[in-house]
Formats: sequence, structure tokens, C-alpha cells
Amino acid sequence: MKEISNKPADLYSQSATVNVGPLGSGWKISPDLIGVFFEDISYAADGGLYAELLQNRSFEYSQSDLRNGSAMSFGEWNALTGWEFVERDGGKGTFLIDTGNPVHLNNPHYAVLGITPSGGSVGLCNKGFDGIPIQSGETYDFSVFARQLAWPEGPLTVRLEDEDGSLLGEAVLPVLTPSWKKYTAEIKAMASTEQGRLLLLASHPGRIALDMISLFPRKTFRNRPNGLRADLAQAIADLKPKFMRFPGGCLVHGDGMDNLYDWKNTIGPVESRKSQRNIWGYHQTLGLGYFEYFQFCEDIGAKPLPVVPAGVSCQNSGGSVTGMGGKGQLGIPMEEMPGYIQDVLDLIEYANGPADSEWGSKRAAAGHPAPFNLEYLGVGNEEHMTPVFKERFKMIYEAVKKAHPEITVVGTAGPFHSGEDYVKGWDIADELKVPVIDEHYYEKPEWFWDNLNRYDSYDRRKSKVYVGEYAAHDIERRNTLRSAIAEAAYLTGLERNGDVIQFASYAPLLARKGHTNWNPNLIYFAKTEVFPAINYHVQKLFSMNSGDTCFPVSASSAEDAPDLAVSAVSDSSTGDMIIKIVNGAGAVRKISVEISGIGKFSGKAMKTVLAGDDPLVVNDHESKTKILPQASSISIGSSFVYDAPAYSLTIFRMENPG
Ligand code: AHR
Repeated sequence: MKEISNKPADLYSQSATVNVGPLGSGWKISPDLIGVFFEDISYAADGGLYAELLQNRSFEYSQSDLRNGSAMSFGEWNALTGWEFVERDGGKGTFLIDTGNPVHLNNPHYAVLGITPSGGSVGLCNKGFDGIPIQSGETYDFSVFARQLAWPEGPLTVRLEDEDGSLLGEAVLPVLTPSWKKYTAEIKAMASTEQGRLLLLASHPGRIALDMISLFPRKTFRNRPNGLRADLAQAIADLKPKFMRFPGGCLVHGDGMDNLYDWKNTIGPVESRKSQRNIWGYHQTLGLGYFEYFQFCEDIGAKPLPVVPAGVSCQNSGGSVTGMGGKGQLGIPMEEMPGYIQDVLDLIEYANGPADSEWGSKRAAAGHPAPFNLEYLGVGNEEHMTPVFKERFKMIYEAVKKAHPEITVVGTAGPFHSGEDYVKGWDIADELKVPVIDEHYYEKPEWFWDNLNRYDSYDRRKSKVYVGEYAAHDIERRNTLRSAIAEAAYLTGLERNGDVIQFASYAPLLARKGHTNWNPNLIYFAKTEVFPAINYHVQKLFSMNSGDTCFPVSASSAEDAPDLAVSAVSDSSTGDMIIKIVNGAGAVRKISVEISGIGKFSGKAMKTVLAGDDPLVVNDHESKTKILPQASSISIGSSFVYDAPAYSLTIFRMENPG
């Protein structure tokens, strides 16, 4: 493997000549190449993109959530996690978890608060995910399901407090009824804090059952109820992704047969959703469910690409280590497969069916009578290729193809870029003529440079490819400039091969600082801050400068220049020509660019450069803007000489002369 420099930049590197064209030599490429892959890993959903501010709102956390090991959970883990019992002003009482006559059978646990006559108040306190961030002047929507179990009298008080107990906002709920009822209140914050907490207090003697205790900021992304954290959702929207794959990843095929991701558990009123263990070792409320995913895709103009289990669990289930094919993979029993296949078909009806169809009506009831225009469906996630998998995949694939020929199924070629599962996965794809196959690879930056031509000699008669998960893993798995530049170089190769590469998405997308299962990630976040990695800017630049026709580029230099990558695409919606130049050398490279072969230009262009002298630099907590793209308007002719900085991605967007 080639050595990639980690030295600071020195003078000039090998110069090169780049020729684009000739005219009429372009080929059509996927207009949807750059998208995102969202998985609930590293608290990406609860405590992340899902805007709910309280933790364990429905008392469903369970010790078994941690079965897969969790180095980053929030302390003790059970139905009481996140909650503290408080007695104030001499108040006395009790707090326990019960399950009889719950709000919904899918949501069996709830809290029972006992208040003994004392004059003071008792209640519950929740500090969210490491403290609730509260913004002065903003409105917060509180809700709770409650019922009075004895002595039906007295209201409940909701307080938002700072960590020192000072009041940030308050609301009083009316006298409770003996049967479950949802109570709501809005609270306007009088001051800001990062360490807020919510208290629910009662002072009238009696016993009260409480469940689904919830607090949302009124300002969610697009102000949607049960919505998404605005800054994080915006960071994703700013990538202008052409598609979004969800909800996983390994989350989809799950840690054992009882942990397959069942989309039907994720729709409908949140109190009726069946929350479950997350394969990444914590709990998923599924408040962010299929409706919310589809809605988000629509809001950001991304084509939805949901992935359903291929009827098998993850090969690494129960701690079984893959090496080459873990033994944890189990299949849905054959007699249950027809029911499972029907669930998959129902998902398509949920997304696209008429508002009066069985499943389309559930989408309409959630507030979206129009279809979500689902075009793609992923079946399986990087499976171990066994007869158990193949049999089930084939059944699902053929049923979808028959019932919904308009849906393009995306299959899988296993967890790695080569090896036994990869070969067998492609054999299955060839045999069944699966339209698109999902490939995954996490490798060193060098690997990406060495594989710029991976798809050049790819057989165009075969399935199209979705590079569904990839990332350059540099030392200590940090998001270095070197990793981002390697990904940029690789993306020029994917663009060049955009006639067969339908989609590509970096992975993982989101990670909460201090609670990460996996590094590196595209966007880190904390309570109120978002930290896009340098790699994020690469994704964004490629997405914002994508095209639909690619042109041949010849790059030559006196010596071999293995750390230079170039692509040229045009965008038919604007007529602009876009040239991307990636210099992976630790020195400036003088490049003579010749584009006269592909037509006339107005002479006006935007030049955007992402570069740095230190290949190991990262945008992190202390310095989140160290490396940012710099854009400028320039005038250039159809031949020009460019000094490409060390470790750089440069994009020239040449304006259509009109
Ligand atoms: O992206 C993180 C994980 O990597 C995904 O869940 C899985 O598909 C892959 O192994």
C-alpha cells in the first residue's frame, strides 16, 4: 500500500497537466449520488436528532438494553433511569414502578407517586441527557399521561429549574381524573441554562400514576410536533442529501431475533409505540419512527431509502464476533415468513398507498394523506451470506418485485469490500438480478487512494452499486484532514463511475460527544452545539456540486502522481461545468488545466478550496472551524494554471455562458 505523508507541507510537488473533454464525450451519471445514512448509534436518535428533552420518558429502560455492552450509558440502567424522587418542604411520599392497566400494552411500565399527608410536596425530577438545555424566551411543550389512583383531588405542578433550584418556568395542570388522560402545558423559559431539570410535583395526599412524561422545545425542525432537534436537522439538511438511508445499519437486523427492527412498532401515537433495546447498547424509544423519517426526507428533499431486515438477525448477535462470519445469524422461521413479507409490503403501502388503504390511512391519520413517493427499499444490511440469508432474501425480493415492480430493491454484498461474503453477495445479486447492491467499507486513507479506480473496469451489465457505508479511518479513528481528502479523492472516482454508482453515503452520520459507540463520525454534537467534521465539508461540497454528466479527464505528469485525483461533471439544471481537483500531496502542486475541449465558458467561476498544511488536523470541540471551505468568485479562461495547495480539495464551478 502506498505511503501517505503525514509531514507538514513542503515546497512544490510534482506538477501535472489536466485535460477535460473532448466535446460530446460525456456520459450520464446518477443525479442522486450523494446522500446520508442515518442510524441510531451513539445516541443519534434519542438524546440526538429526536428533540425530546427528557430521558426515559416512559419508564421502559431495562437492564437488558445493555445486553450488547454499553460503555457510554447514562449511569444505572432500569425503569427508574433518568428519574429522581424528590420530597420538598417537608413532603413525604413514595415512588415505584407499576405495570397494571398501563396507558398502552406496548408501553407497560409507569410511575406511581404516593403522597402522604405532610404539607409539603413530592415528585419526580428528570435531568434529560446530561442536563436539559433551556433557552430564555423559548416555549417548551410539556405533556404527561396521568391518572389519580386514590383521593381524586389536587393539581400537579410542572417546574423547569436550573441546577441550583432557581425557577426557569412553571405550569400547573388541572385536577387529575381516575382514568388515563393526556395533560399538556406550555412553559415559557425566563432564563437560559445548559443544566436544566424538570420537576413534576404533587402536594395533595393520594396516589398518582404517571407515564409518557415529555418535554419538547416548541422550535423543532420545521416546527413539527414530535419533531427533530432544529440545529442537528439543519446540519443534515445543509448537506443537501439526494437520499437518506435509515434506520440502520446493524440496528436494522438487530441483536438476535427478538431485536429485528419492526417498522410497525414505530408508527402511530408515541404512547403506543413499542420501544426496544438498541443493538448499540442502550434504549430506543422509537419516538423517531417511520413517519418522522419519511417526513424528514420530504422536508429536506431527500429520497427515502428505508432498510428492512432480510429475515435474519445480525451475524454478530449475542456478542458473536464476525471475524469472517459470526455465528449469531438466525432466520425467521419459514412458517412466519409470509407474515413477515406482508409486513414489508405493508410498509410500501404505508409510504405510497392511497389515504383510504389500510396502511395508507395510518399515514393519513398521522397528518400526511399524500404519499411519500417511496422509490427504493433496502433489504438487509451487510449480512453474512448463508443459505439461511439467501432463502429469505430471495423470498422478500421476489415478493416485492411482483407486488411492486415500481420499487427498486437494494440488496447487500456483506460487511466488507472483498472476501467471501462480498463474493457470495455478488453471486446472489447476479443470480437474482437485484437492481442495486449495497457495499460497505471502512478503511485507511491509503486504501481509498489505492482504489480510485475500483469501479473503472466494473461490468456495466451487472447491478448498480450503492456505497452505503464508507469512511477513511485514520490514526486513532479521528476525522483528520487526511481522511477527508482521501474521501474526496475517492468520491471523484465514484463520480467518474456514476453510471454504475447510484448512491454513496458516509457512515456514521451523527454521534453525541461522550456517548459514542463508534468513531469517526460525520457530525458530532453536544447539548446545544454541532461539530461538523472536516469530512462533512467534503460531503457537502460534493453534494452541492454534483452533476448529471461526467467528462473524461486525462491527468499527466512527468512522474506518476498517485496522490492526484480529478473529475469533471456538468449539471444540466444550470449548465455549469464543475471540475474537482484533489491534491493529496503534502506540497503545492502546479496544475495546468485545459477545458477548451468541452465548450465555451463565460469566464466567471466560483473557486472553493478546502485545505490545510497539517494532514492530521481535525475540527473538534476547541477548534470546530479550523478547516473550512473558502469560496471566491474568479475569472478564468478555458486554459489556466492552478497551484493546488497541499492536502486540498478544490472545486471550480464554471458558469454557463447562457
Ligand atoms: O456504521 C456503523 C455500523 O457499521 C453499521 O451499523 C453497520 O452496518 C456497519 O458495520
